[in-house]
Order: sequence, then structure tokens, then C-alpha cells
Amino acid sequence: MGVKKLIDQLNKEEALSYDNWLVLLSSYTPHDISYAQSLAQQIVRSVYGRDIYVRGLIEYTNYCKNDCYYCGIRRSNHKAERYRLTREELLSCCRQGYALGFRTFVMQGGEDGFYTDDWLEETIHEIKRKYPDCALTLSMGERSYDSYKRFYQAGADRYLLRHETAEQHHYEKLHPKELSFSHRKDCLYALKEIGYQVGCGFMVDSPFQTVETLAEDMLFIHDLKPHMIGIGPFIPHKDTPFHDRPQGSLEKTLFFISLLRIMEKHALIPATTALGTIHSKGRELGILAGANVLMPNLSPVFVRKKYALYDNKICTGEEAAECKDCLAKRIESIGYKIVCERGDYKP
Ligand code: 5AD
Ligand code: FES
Repeated sequence: MGVKKLIDQLNKEEALSYDNWLVLLSSYTPHDISYAQSLAQQIVRSVYGRDIYVRGLIEYTNYCKNDCYYCGIRRSNHKAERYRLTREELLSCCRQGYALGFRTFVMQGGEDGFYTDDWLEETIHEIKRKYPDCALTLSMGERSYDSYKRFYQAGADRYLLRHETAEQHHYEKLHPKELSFSHRKDCLYALKEIGYQVGCGFMVDSPFQTVETLAEDMLFIHDLKPHMIGIGPFIPHKDTPFHDRPQGSLEKTLFFISLLRIMEKHALIPATTALGTIHSKGRELGILAGANVLMPNLSPVFVRKKYALYDNKICTGEEAAECKDCLAKRIESIGYKIVCERGDYKP
């Protein structure tokens, strides 16, 4: 079967077999990329219109106990200048974000034991007490079922935990042995069971990625049925073991955004900062490929350069207000509009 037929089948059945994914992923042409893009655009417009949701990203700590080979804030990177935000600093990011119109805040950080469950619970409570009309997303890695449950009961609404790769051997090539795909998967299913809107995702062209591992990613996402899917190109960081690996392809990342939109029609899919980093119009192209979310940085400017997961990250010198205006113009230029809403998953 040709790729176009497979894309049509994906559109209709919202799934493909492993073998069909292999065929699709090993034989697509630029023509198929445009075909997927036009379908993805129709789908996203029928579900979410031309509205683009924004999430204010607060990078509250770059300490991390993990040592993922791709990541610039891995614990073995002794060149990383570490920081932690205080509760007051975090709340001040929310205050500024709220004034700019953000109605979702994302607390993202490395896996940092300094912040206990008690501290996080109280902080979540406080944010939700001050901003009851906002959604709060957590992105702080793997924690116990009980911690996830406490944070949910304290008011957190969503959780982002990229699965990184759904193929166990590939997972082991990206991470040291303490980390496993099976544990990652357990966390994602636990989060979903607790009631969070859940996000998973992966990097396009991460080292050792193959059509087989990508086919596993698509099957895993189909099985998990996440509310959010974050993908972006792999970008090397100079002080990591993968410093000399090539950066991910723009076209392939855009193609995956379209395929994910065709498979998971209602998902919230961001045009990521990594996509904006590899191409000056990367985020606009991401939206045109089927994404409908942007995650501008709300972190205080004095920490931004320090939260470097990869090299040359954009928007590390700009104030949140500057990014907001910049994004509004960019989004208008392609015929979409940024909206001031929580932007929950539409079932
Ligand atoms: N390039 C692109 N994305 C990266 N991430 C971590 N390191 C890199 C990198 N070098 C992504 C991971 C992680 C998310 C927060 O950022 O997928 O889950
Ligand atoms: Fe940050 Fe354009 S979005 S400067």
C-alpha cells in the first residue's frame, strides 16, 4: 500500500499496525508530508478552530538527580550553573503571567529532591488559591504514585512526562541503567488513573532512533491516549555525551506533528521551543503542521540561560512580555490567534 493510502487509513481508523508504520516511515516523500499537513490542518481546525493556547512555562529548578545522555542539566554536567527558585519567585512568575493573560502555568524542573512533597503541595495549593481560574501543569519527572496523588488533590490539573522512546533498548541507549521505560510507562498510566490530563512525547532524531523505535512510539501513544503530546527535534548540548550527534530534522518533526494530529485528533500538541530553535519560523511551521499550543517562557530572565537542555535555545534574553507580543504577531501572520483561556482538552 502507498503512503498516501496509509495516511488515509490512519485518518479513518486512528491507528496503524506496526508493519504499516514501518512502511509509512521508511518510504514517505515530501509529497506525503504536504498531504499529511493539509489533513492535519483540517482536523485541528475542526476541533479547535484557529485558537492557539499558551502555557506560561516556569523553569523552577535546574538541579537534577538523573543523568540522561542527551540533556544539558544532567547531574554529571558540572559546567551547568545550578539554581532553584523560591516559592516567592515562583509566585511572582505566576503574577506576571496572569497579568499577561496566561491561564495555564507549567512548573517544570529537573528531578530535584530539595523540593519535598510538602513544599510542592503547599505551593500548588497557593497557586490554585490565588489563580482559581488557571490550570496548573506539573513537569517534574518520575515520582511515586502517592506524590502524584497528593499534588492532584492539592489542585494540579495536568502532568507532562515525555516517554522519550517506547522501545526498551533504545531507552537504555538514551539513559543510564537506573532509568527504565517500564517505570516511565507505569508513571504515565498512574498519572492518567489519578485523573490528570497527561502528556507524553519524544525527540525526533534522538541518537539511535530508527523507524522501528518510532513505530513503537506511535503504538504506545495510541495505547496511552494522552491529552497532550510534546515532540521536538533532538538538539545536541555541548557538555553532554551526545555533543557531536546531529540535530534533528525540521521536516521530519513537522511530519510527526501532522501524523500525531491525524491519529490523536483532539490532542493538545505544542509547537515547541526546540522547533523554534532549529528554524526561525519553526513554531509557525509547527502550527501549520497541526500543533495548537505554544509554551513561552515565564521564568525570571536571570535563570533562563541556565535552564539549557540543549544549545542555542531561543528566548533566553527576552522578558515574558516581549515573547508574548512576538508570538502574538507571529501567530497572526499565519492566520491563527492566541487566546486567553485555560485551553483544556476538548473530548
Ligand atoms: N534536545 C531536545 N530536547 C531535549 N530534551 C531534553 N534534552 C533535549 C535535547 N538535547 C527534552 C526531553 C525532555 C524535555 C523536557 O526536553 O524530551 O523530556
Ligand atoms: Fe520570545 Fe519571540 S517568542 S522573542
